[in-house]
Amino acid sequence: MTKKTSIKFEIEHIDPLGQGVFKDEEDIYFISGTLPSEKGVANVDRFKKNIYFGHLEQESNLQEHSSKRVTPECPHFFSCNGCHFLHTSYENELTFKEKSLERMLQQYNKNTKGGPTTEIHVHSSSKRLGYRNRIQLHYDLNTKLIGFIGFDKRKITPVPDCKILMPKLEEKLKEIYKDNHWLSLVPRSSPKKGHVELIINSQGEVNLVFNGPYAHGGFTQVHRQMNTHLQKLVFEIFKYTEHKQVLDLFGGSGNLSKRLSPTPCIVIDNHQEGLLVEWDGHQRFVKSNLYSNKAPDFVKDHYKEDTFVILDPPRSGLKNLKDFLPETSKTISGFVYVSCNPQTFFRDIKTIRNNYVLKEIHLLDLFPSTYHFEVLGVLKPTE
Ligand SMILES: C[S@@+](CC[C@H](N)C(=O)[O-])C[C@H]1O[C@@H](n2cnc3c(N)ncnc32)[C@H](O)[C@@H]1O
Repeated sequence: MTKKTSIKFEIEHIDPLGQGVFKDEEDIYFISGTLPSEKGVANVDRFKKNIYFGHLEQESNLQEHSSKRVTPECPHFFSCNGCHFLHTSYENELTFKEKSLERMLQQYNKNTKGGPTTEIHVHSSSKRLGYRNRIQLHYDLNTKLIGFIGFDKRKITPVPDCKILMPKLEEKLKEIYKDNHWLSLVPRSSPKKGHVELIINSQGEVNLVFNGPYAHGGFTQVHRQMNTHLQKLVFEIFKYTEHKQVLDLFGGSGNLSKRLSPTPCIVIDNHQEGLLVEWDGHQRFVKSNLYSNKAPDFVKDHYKEDTFVILDPPRSGLKNLKDFLPETSKTISGFVYVSCNPQTFFRDIKTIRNNYVLKEIHLLDLFPSTYHFEVLGVLKPTE
């Protein structure tokens, strides 16, 4: 196959990753930064067999513009792969997200007992920019580059003026870029290539952690206002459910069950050392690896009558979800599954569709400007 370096495109639709898609004979193309019906020329970033990935380098490479196109508010949009929708309005971004979820929901509804769930409740964000409280950057001491991994999935793209960060974080980012100040901050023992996380801590200060685990210090949702919205939604669902206790699985710091006081709550997570907190009368924190073979039995041992379950796994989801649910529907009147990955969400709930039906589905925009979003499903036993 001859390697193409540029592509003439005519976009047919947008995929779940926010990329414009079109087919040409045997080849299929995914072009970032484009919109349906747009025509133009894009650079090829990488390819595998007959699948090509590229991006629009500048607006002047378009021959035909969509009426939905806007000028991106970020100076890095055409070189950075971090945001996917800043070339269109927020309203249009939400429509793409909803349609993407709708297609997956339609697939799920096929062959599902208890009637289809069709209405998606969309919760938009009041802020499209200036919301993130944490970012991870890659660095290379040889090339003296720090930033996000670019479209080719290899090179580092500097992003000194990232617009989705909270103002304090945005300010800090500019500061570390100025005169390559970040070079003096890398600890001596660090590898030549690595990563650094910039996080706003609970005191409102920015911490820099070089080469630590992702979400150093314990997982926290990145969008504070939308996290509060999510907590309130969980509380609304909880209010109308029979409950004597709460099980918050993959519960982290107990973020989603905090507001369910005074109902006793067990938060299970493989918490990092130092985060384990004693029983405070409402939330009890238990450390356990929920992906181990013993996890389903361990969780089932904690059920008692009328347990309200919250499940919020990492992107990889919970393949063996059915093993975690009690045999009798009297034990739990249902559960709430929160996920940042709709693919694994539907994969998992499909495995229990004969016993649990999806009663409600919510799309919460916890990651505006990007293709990511949070899904919350309410599942109830089939009668
Ligand atoms: C998407 S976060 C949700 C956390 C929490 N519900 C919140 O809203 O902040 C996923 C959580 O899964 C936890 N986790 C990851 N792998 C795990 C494992 N093997 N066993 C238990 N918990 C795990 C992480 O520590 C993290 O707190």
